[in-house]
Amino acid sequence: MFNDLSSPAAFLATRRSGKPRDLAAPGPDDATLARMLELAARTPDHGKLAPWRFVIVDDRDRLAALIIEAYRAERPGASATEIAAMDQFARQAPTLVVVLSSPRAGSHIPLFEQEMSAGAACMNLLHAAGALGFAAGWLTGWPAFSDAVRGGLGGAAGERIVGFVFIGTPGRALEERPRPDMDKIVCRW
Ligand SMILES: Cc1cc2nc3c(=O)[nH]c(=O)nc-3n(C[C@H](O)[C@H](O)[C@H](O)COP(=O)(O)O)c2cc1C
Repeated sequence: MFNDLSSPAAFLATRRSGKPRDLAAPGPDDATLARMLELAARTPDHGKLAPWRFVIVDDRDRLAALIIEAYRAERPGASATEIAAMDQFARQAPTLVVVLSSPRAGSHIPLFEQEMSAGAACMNLLHAAGALGFAAGWLTGWPAFSDAVRGGLGGAAGERIVGFVFIGTPGRALEERPRPDMDKIVCRW
């Protein structure tokens, strides 16, 4: 098991992202994925706006075609290598959830707070995946900043892609990475 689920603190201390390209089957079944999203939605949000939503991507061929078409439209001279990278991006891991920031226009809650809540929902989805025995990886990359990709996924103007969260089972051990020097990021005031 790649995450230590023996206690909440042990889980938080051992959870780490999986590289999406290394995530293999099995992914969560439909009931487990629904539970995962329910857990992810238990995220702090000022004003109870739920200013985020989840798009489960079932059709990877369609996603690859959407991303490649958008990429070619923006970069007509794209090389075969670039196109292959976009195709590969769309096909990683058995399960993919796109987290959209979906701020409520006209709310008195500042946009910044709503977008922070969307980021928190993304992180919470990583935690939910880990807690249910899977690994997940959060990517943005070129597709996350393409209006055409966002629109093709059903995102309205004003919505933004917060992340592509790829979920599955690690095909290899999850390596630890350097963590922040706590002395540099904690102070007393
Ligand atoms: C908003 C956001 C976008 C990211 N986009 C990418 C990306 O496009 N490509 C990448 O290699 N890593 C990206 N990462 C980093 C990965 O998620 C990385 O694997 C992660 O930071 C590993 O940390 P962890 O083990 O503590 O979860 C992104 C992280 C965040 C928060």
